[in-house]
Amino acid sequence: METILFNDSPEDLYKAAELIKNGEIVGIPTETVYGLGADASNEEAVRKIFAAKGRPADNPLIVHLADFNDAVKYTSHIPEIAYKLADEFCPGPLTIILPKNDKIPSVTSGGLDTVGIRVPAHPVMRRIIEISGCPIAAPSANTSGYPSPTTASHVMYDMSGKISAVVDGGQSEFGLESTVISIENEDTVRILRPGCVTSEHLSRICRNVIIDKAILKEVEAGETVSSPGMKYKHYSPQADIVLLEGAIEAFTEYVGRNYGDDVYGLIFDTDAESFPYRYLTYGSNDSQLAHNIFSKLRELDEMGAKKVFVRAPSKEGVGLAVYNRLIRAAGFEVIRI
Ligand code: TXA
Ligand code: MG
Repeated sequence: METILFNDSPEDLYKAAELIKNGEIVGIPTETVYGLGADASNEEAVRKIFAAKGRPADNPLIVHLADFNDAVKYTSHIPEIAYKLADEFCPGPLTIILPKNDKIPSVTSGGLDTVGIRVPAHPVMRRIIEISGCPIAAPSANTSGYPSPTTASHVMYDMSGKISAVVDGGQSEFGLESTVISIENEDTVRILRPGCVTSEHLSRICRNVIIDKAILKEVEAGETVSSPGMKYKHYSPQADIVLLEGAIEAFTEYVGRNYGDDVYGLIFDTDAESFPYRYLTYGSNDSQLAHNIFSKLRELDEMGAKKVFVRAPSKEGVGLAVYNRLIRAAGFEVIRI
């Protein structure tokens, strides 16, 4: 199949929405990362997403709506706290897990009786939902296991020949996938995947915010998880990633001792002046690190990097979300220096 590249003109958005309505799958920009979108209520279309990504069938898809009030059509119950959170954070990078109803087929929910609802802010994604009239199931548009795509060319690289089209809507603003939360009760939410809506943000609306323990550590074989995605290998480029936690002096010394052909550092902008080895930088504050991390991991592969030592971000605020992706990219190989 030839994958068409659309731009964000009204004609192209109309064509992309038509493809979705007709059961095809399309790469679509969102403010977090690019998604691989299909009509969430069409089982055949949703199966094409799993096939194109090579995604395990038990890993559920997030359903994207133009308005949180439409969630009543696809869920069996919406707690009051969900409305309060939606008032504050939707549209935006937040996914709320709710009990699903039978409008959402079991293939979409990975066999679970819940569904993740997200109201994206990106105007292109919003327009495609509106024109198609479909709830849009969309995982990140990468091959399973590879870093998430933040540009249309990343999506083309992974999906060309496997999907009907990609819509180019520029580089994703946040660069990391949405914060995924479940609701424990009217006072308590649990973060299953950290993102740019942080626990500090959520605490303004909800009294108790629990950070699931799987966010910072590897899930053990046989352990029950709150979110199937926690079990799988993620975000890994071809290069071997090692996360180093510590000051730049110790980082530089460590890389020096382990240096060789095709070894790179991935460091902060502010480290660059004193770093004597091959490197890329990925920003100087948490939002910039989030914005750049996935594209830098892909760029290192293009440059032929075989081993990459990454300067670890903080675990505060948005830093926690970047850290969460990096420990997975590193296969949990974190060294305190
Ligand atoms: O920002 C995002 O969320 C992007 C854009 C495209 O919207 N989407 C995205 O989808 O990251 P995906 O499929 O790559 O990641 C969704 C994560 C997975 O780890 C999945 O296991 C979890 O959310 N998830 C989805 N539905 C769930 C549910 N009902 N219960 C628990 N976890 C769920
Ligand atoms: Mg993903």
